[in-house]
Amino acid sequence: MGPGVLGQLLDMAPDASDEHQDCIRCHAPLAEQAASLAEAIVKTRTGSAQPLPHEQGLTCAACHVRGHERFGPPRRDRSAPGPDVAGLPHGGWKASSAFEDSRFCAACHQFREGEFALNGKLLENTYEEWKSSRYAREGKSCQSCHMPERRHLWRGVHDESMMKSAVAINAAAPVRAGNSVEASLSIRNTGTGHHFPTYVTPKVIVEIYQATANGKILPDTLQVHVIARLVELDLSREIADTRLAPDEEAVLRYRRPVHRRAGFLVYRVRVAPDAFYKEFFESSLASAQPVRGKPMIRSALERARRSPFTIFEEQRPLRRAGDSG
Ligand code: HEC
Ligand code: HEC
Ligand code: HEC
Ligand code: HEC
Repeated sequence: MGPGVLGQLLDMAPDASDEHQDCIRCHAPLAEQAASLAEAIVKTRTGSAQPLPHEQGLTCAACHVRGHERFGPPRRDRSAPGPDVAGLPHGGWKASSAFEDSRFCAACHQFREGEFALNGKLLENTYEEWKSSRYAREGKSCQSCHMPERRHLWRGVHDESMMKSAVAINAAAPVRAGNSVEASLSIRNTGTGHHFPTYVTPKVIVEIYQATANGKILPDTLQVHVIARLVELDLSREIADTRLAPDEEAVLRYRRPVHRRAGFLVYRVRVAPDAFYKEFFESSLASAQPVRGKPMIRSALERARRSPFTIFEEQRPLRRAGDSG
C-alpha cells in the first residue's frame, strides 16, 4: 500500500472501522488486513521488517481467495480442475469466468449508484464509461488492455508506454500570418477504453510555445490546454471536465505574435499522473492534521512530485518577418 493511503489511515481512530473500510475496501480488502490495521493504529506498529498484512495492500488473496478457497479463471484451453486435484498446488482451485469479465474490475473502479458524485457524475465511473463505449460492444474487456495474455501488469496513467498508446497526437506546422504565427496540436483518444484520463487525479497538459534557438522557453508565448476532470481539493465542486471520451479529439489552436528571439515553435504533451494528490498532500502537510501520518504523507508527496513525464515533443523552426530563406 502506498504511503499516501497509509499516512491518512494512521490518523484515524482505531475503532472507526467504517472509516477504515471507506479506504481499505479497495486498497487492502481482506478481513485480516482490517484487523492488522486497527492493531497498528493502537500500537503504532509500522515499518517492521516483514510488512504487516494491511501494509501489503492489494494482495493475491484479495482477488483469488474467498472463504479460504482459491478461485481463478478457467485454464486457457477452457479446462478446469476436476474432482481429483491430488498433485495440484494448494489442492487445485475453483474456476470462475467472473475473472474474465469487466465487472470484476468494477468492484474497485466504479462507484455504485448513489455514491459520491459531483456535477451529476460519480467520482469513479470507469466501468460505465467503458460500457457505453465501442470497446464494450466489440467485446474488449478491461483485462484485454490491462492484463494482456493474463499478465498482471495493470499499467495505466503512470506508465509512459501505456500513455503513448492511449492517444494519437498531431502537430500542424506553423503558418505565418503577418507578425503572428498560427499552429495547432490535436490529441485524440484512440486507444483508451474509457475517458482519457478516467480519474480526477491526473492532468494531461497540451502546450505550444516559442523557444530560443537554444530551446529556452520565451515568456508570454505559451498557450495551454489541460485535459482533466478538475475538482476542488475538498471535493466540494467540479471546476471543469475536459476529458476525452473514446474517439473524441481536443485541438489546441495557437496564435501569438512572433517573439523577437524566437527560433522554434515547440509542441508538447505532458502527463502529471498525481496532480490532484500533489496539491492534496501539500495542503494536508500545511495544516495541523495529519500528525502521525506526516512522514508518510511527506514521502507520498515526494513520489507525486517525481511522477510527471512527457509523451510528445516536437519543434519546428520559426523565422521572424523579414528573414530571408
Ligand atoms: C473504490 C475504490 C477505492 C476506494 C474506496 C479508495 N480508493 Fe484510493 N485509490 C483507488 C485507485 C483505483 C487508485 C489509483 C488511482 C490512480 O493512481 O490512477 C487509488 C489511489 C489512491 C492514492 C494515491 C496512490 C498512493 O498509494 O499514494 C491515495 C493516497 C489514496 N488512493 C487514498 C485513499 C484513501 C485515504 C481512501 C479512503 C478515504 C481511498 N483511497 C479510498 C481506489 C480506491
Ligand atoms: C486485482 C485482482 C488480482 C490480483 C491482486 C491478482 N490477480 Fe491473478 N488474476 C486476476 C484476474 C482478473 C485474472 C484473469 C485475467 C484474464 O482472464 O484475462 C487472473 C489470473 C490469474 C492466474 C491464471 C493465469 C493463467 O495464465 O491462466 C493466476 C495463476 C493468477 N492470477 C495468480 C495470481 C497471483 C499469484 C497473484 C499475486 C501475486 C495474483 N494473481 C494477483 C486478478 C488478480
Ligand atoms: C480489490 C480492488 C481492486 C480490483 C478488484 C481491481 N483493482 Fe485496479 N487498482 C486498485 C487499487 C487500490 C489501485 C491503486 C493502487 C495504488 O496505486 O496504490 C489500482 C490500480 C489499477 C491501475 C493502475 C492505475 C494507475 O494509476 O496507474 C489499473 C490500470 C487498474 N487498477 C486496472 C484494473 C483492472 C483492469 C481490474 C480488473 C481486472 C482491476 N484493476 C481490479 C484496486 C482494484
Ligand atoms: C482499449 C483498451 C482499454 C480498455 C478496454 C480499458 N482500458 Fe483502462 N486504460 C487504457 C489506457 C491506454 C490507459 C492510459 C490512459 C489513461 O490514463 O486514461 C488506461 C488507464 C486506466 C486507469 C488509470 C487511471 C486513469 O486516471 O486513467 C485505470 C484505473 C483503468 N484504465 C481501469 C480500467 C478499467 C476498470 C477498465 C474496464 C472497465 C478499463 N480500464 C478498460 C486502456 C484501456
